[in-house]
Amino acid sequence: MIKIFDKFLEGKGAVITGAASGFGRDDALKLAEVGANLVLSDVNVEGLEETAQLVKSKYGSEVLTVQIDVSDSEQVKKLAKQAYATFDNIYVLVNNAGVGIDFTSILAVKERIWDKTLNINLKGQWLIAKTFCRKMKVQKFEPIAGKIINMASIAGVNIDPFIPVYSISKVGVIALTQLLAAQLAPKVTVNCVSPGYHVTGIYDNDTDLMQKTMDAGNVQTPLKRYGTIEDISNIIVFLASPHSDFITGQNIIVDGGITSVGTPSHLEFK
Ligand SMILES: NC(=O)c1ccc[n+]([C@@H]2O[C@H](COP(=O)([O-])OP(=O)(O)OC[C@H]3O[C@@H](n4cnc5c(N)ncnc54)[C@H](O)[C@@H]3O)[C@@H](O)[C@H]2O)c1
Repeated sequence: MIKIFDKFLEGKGAVITGAASGFGRDDALKLAEVGANLVLSDVNVEGLEETAQLVKSKYGSEVLTVQIDVSDSEQVKKLAKQAYATFDNIYVLVNNAGVGIDFTSILAVKERIWDKTLNINLKGQWLIAKTFCRKMKVQKFEPIAGKIINMASIAGVNIDPFIPVYSISKVGVIALTQLLAAQLAPKVTVNCVSPGYHVTGIYDNDTDLMQKTMDAGNVQTPLKRYGTIEDISNIIVFLASPHSDFITGQNIIVDGGITSVGTPSHLEFK
């Protein structure tokens, strides 16, 4: 029986995109704690190096940092090339990089915002998964050869009219997760995580901005608190662990009950 705190990722590589900040940074620390060799990537090179230093000083782990934009296929190839030049396997892929939150309505949103949001949040996850799964699915690990974890959102479960393009991108991530899970079974599991409201870089690390977003949509959280970064990184560890080996194609909602028994963001028609 494997205990959750065993070093179950020892000898295994983990790629985390968007590792300079927020969930990605804490995912890096948590996966290092359970023994993973890390490939951390982000567009933000300063934040990326800061995460790498935090991980190295706390756990002494092997860490490769690669600055890339996930929406550019050539840069994604560079990430894979450097990852496999450094480590002989990538067992976990956390497709975490993402941008939000534009409050323009669906008919007013600028084409530039549409392209940027969908290219980073959706195309980026597709490019990275497509690139890494080729080797992942033929790795010799048993019973599961690799694990892909995508970051979706509750805005992809209940369409959020206040952040329409972001919402569309996350609907796409949930669909992408199911499509990949079907194609990559039985060797690779593919799941996504849908956070609710957690103060991170996506809200400029500003609780007031996040509360305003929640108020705009009349959001009610049954568990009566904001989400934390750890609420999500704990689930990432679970999805990277053998405890989740029989789970694939799922969207794990971590939102204090908003989606199922609370009040998700909604448009009030006057
Ligand atoms: N914070 C929340 O409440 C919340 C809710 C639902 C979903 N999410 C999702 O969680 C994921 C992580 O976001 P976060 O909340 O930690 O925000 P964050 O801003 O702290 O982290 C996102 C990271 O992605 C990086 N990034 C942005 N564009 C990139 C690109 N083109 N290429 C590579 N890296 C890029 C940023 O530099 C940043 O370090 C995102 O996919 C986001 O949509 C967050």
